[in-house]
Amino acid sequence: GIVPVVLSGGTGSRLWPMSRASFPKQLWALLSERSMLQETVLRGSSAGFAPPVIVCNEEHRFLIAEQLREVMVEKPSILLEPVGRNSAPAIAAAALLVAQTNPQAVLWMMPADAEIKNHHALQAVMEKAVDAARIGRIVTFGMTPTRPETGYGYIEKGEPLPGVDGAFVIRSFREKPTADVARGFVEDGNYFWNSGMFVFRADVLLEEMNKYAPKVLEHVKAAFEKRTTDLDFIRLDKEAFSQAPDISLDYAIAEKTDVSAVIPADLGWSDVGSWDALWDISNKDADNNVLIGDVLTEGAHGCYVRSEGMLTAVSGLDDVVVVVTSDAVLVTHKNQAQDVKKLVEQLKREG
Ligand code: GDD
Ligand code: MG
Repeated sequence: GIVPVVLSGGTGSRLWPMSRASFPKQLWALLSERSMLQETVLRGSSAGFAPPVIVCNEEHRFLIAEQLREVMVEKPSILLEPVGRNSAPAIAAAALLVAQTNPQAVLWMMPADAEIKNHHALQAVMEKAVDAARIGRIVTFGMTPTRPETGYGYIEKGEPLPGVDGAFVIRSFREKPTADVARGFVEDGNYFWNSGMFVFRADVLLEEMNKYAPKVLEHVKAAFEKRTTDLDFIRLDKEAFSQAPDISLDYAIAEKTDVSAVIPADLGWSDVGSWDALWDISNKDADNNVLIGDVLTEGAHGCYVRSEGMLTAVSGLDDVVVVVTSDAVLVTHKNQAQDVKKLVEQLKREG
């Protein structure tokens, strides 16, 4: 079967004060009544795929196990990282786990913090992705770029991939280009954004890791071999895992491999990274406001107002973000929402 692998490792600092290191954004119900992690695992189980593998920091194990139980995801494997070493080590651990029972199993790697609106399109495209993965490709999904975003990976489409309709060989993959380079890519028309989801056979990924990121594979293998298991949790060995280089799959493999493929798709995809992005994809009222919780507005337009408790009122302001939690309040302008990250850095410095 196909094994969904959900990476839940980011802290999402631009979504402070909801998102915290101890309770990151993917565990919050930000877009629906379920958390993004729950929505993500449900994509796999509603497609009838195998039980998922979740890779996360050990600190989040009980929160995550509980959230999986809530949506009745059966028999998950929860792989625990003693420290975060980015996505390449995380996915290597998952591939080693799955390869134990079936080296040729197809893995569907998903970030825990992306929104996909077009479920039908996703299903159709997954079938093609699995076909391409079975013949040894590392498959990505191409999202049509709408702005020169520098936080994404860019995929240059090459020739059609023989044997799989709608799939293309990748001519080049560039992770997080500069603004100038990104502008050129968007104008060129042959480039897509990388969605962050990948589909591949476990053995193919491990082979490419061995080629392009041997240190990652070496240390993760050692950590996996010395793993311990308690309850549903599989704990990677701390000493070995800590030695793995801190690198993302995009830099470690996607930029380098020549067995990749891209399937352009209209998935209604968005990266839920910041409050303005969340405003963008949420349902709005007649005044273009997104209002969540006990909130009240008067003469306010284009605002995102969210309260986790206290009655919160906004009057005579446009395009602001107001987020109230039990111990912190954020007020910012929507076009300044990326800078919330800087506040969090300041908080960390000052303790
Ligand atoms: N388990 C685990 N451990 N997961 C991790 C770790 C880690 O140490 N680090 C990151 N992740 C998870 C994140 O939680 C997220 O689900 C996914 O891996 C991607 O990591 P991000 O840190 O969010 O990557 P990014 O947003 O900078 O870039 C990626 O996503 C873009 C689309 O949103 C890349 O794949 C880009 O190419 C892509 O365009
Ligand atoms: Mg991200």
